[in-house]
Amino acid sequence: MGMNSIDGTVLVTGGAGYIGSHTVRSLREAGREVVVLDSLELGRREAVIDAPLVVGDIHDRDLVTSTCHEHNVTQMIHFAAYKAVGESMEVPAKYWRNNVAGSVDLVEACLASGVHDIVFSSSCSVNGTPAVVPVTEDAPIHPESVYAESKAMVERILYWYGQTSGLRSVSLRYFNAAGASFDGRIGEDWTHSQNLVPLAMKALLLRDRRLKVFGDDYETPDGTCIRDYIHVADLADAHVKALDYLGRGGRTVALNVGTGVGSSVLDVLKATAEVAGESVPYEIAPRRAGDPVATFADPGLAETLLGWRAAHGLREIVQTAYAWHRSEVRRHRAG
Ligand SMILES: NC(=O)c1ccc[n+]([C@@H]2O[C@H](COP(=O)([O-])OP(=O)(O)OC[C@H]3O[C@@H](n4cnc5c(N)ncnc54)[C@H](O)[C@@H]3O)[C@@H](O)[C@H]2O)c1
Repeated sequence: MGMNSIDGTVLVTGGAGYIGSHTVRSLREAGREVVVLDSLELGRREAVIDAPLVVGDIHDRDLVTSTCHEHNVTQMIHFAAYKAVGESMEVPAKYWRNNVAGSVDLVEACLASGVHDIVFSSSCSVNGTPAVVPVTEDAPIHPESVYAESKAMVERILYWYGQTSGLRSVSLRYFNAAGASFDGRIGEDWTHSQNLVPLAMKALLLRDRRLKVFGDDYETPDGTCIRDYIHVADLADAHVKALDYLGRGGRTVALNVGTGVGSSVLDVLKATAEVAGESVPYEIAPRRAGDPVATFADPGLAETLLGWRAAHGLREIVQTAYAWHRSEVRRHRAG
């Protein structure tokens, strides 16, 4: 037998992005060697800090193969993708090419290099509007956008590489990633983001426009949509544990990674006001097409198989996000 896969290096595609950069730090804290592959199209070189970074594209099979050999790669985490739901409906080919075809090229190159363990960034959006909450992994796959379909397709493609080539994969279906690192070094850039927490921070700190709250007449306690906000440090930890699981010989599986707690849009704004000492300027806008009323995870299977559960809640999400965004604003004003 060769060495155990967890003794080698982890290839992290998209490791200069939001969730990837937090995961790179958690991996290194857990004693893992990493190498990041990122085009830097949407990521930041600074977010990688001092981890090895290869600037390039997941479609580049020669580059992936040489990176795997040079760095003794034995496992991979695949974050690299486009993630704007609205854009995916306007320019679908961009999503089929990058998210789906790019994943095929990447997996082929990894298999050719002897890498058989992969953790994949999937999304709770593969379930569309769930009929039942909390959402379990056997809920119907029902994507409501090109983006969500691209994630569902890659889950299936990874399953089939398991049948044909011995690939073993964990697809982590993230709920709403949010928050920044506890030391304030990295966080979620609001430039490209369409997520509630960074946009609320932008409205609060720049006061350039009111945050739009899409719909306040849903059948929820306060009329706004309910989501499961998961701290990015908890998400990062789930990836470390998923690699360990594969290293122990774990079978291919898809897992929901959320807290199990649903928070409304107004809950998030209230928590933000408590942390910041001032309220977020907002206005009510019409409902958006395709927004599920309420979704939150049943994280029980992830706990059983990975020994993972979220350690942080909404308060820590908002505290870390606020601290990071405030320091970024100061840094930009100073520079
Ligand atoms: N943020 C969320 O709440 C959320 C929820 C569910 C799923 N996801 C998924 O998690 C993953 C990471 O999300 P994120 O929020 O960190 O996004 P992000 O945009 O911050 O990071 C993605 C990174 O991938 C890189 N990239 C994109 N295409 C590439 C390519 N072809 N080759 C090399 N690098 C490429 C980008 O430069 C960027 O650094 C994505 O796959 C996303 O779809 C995110």
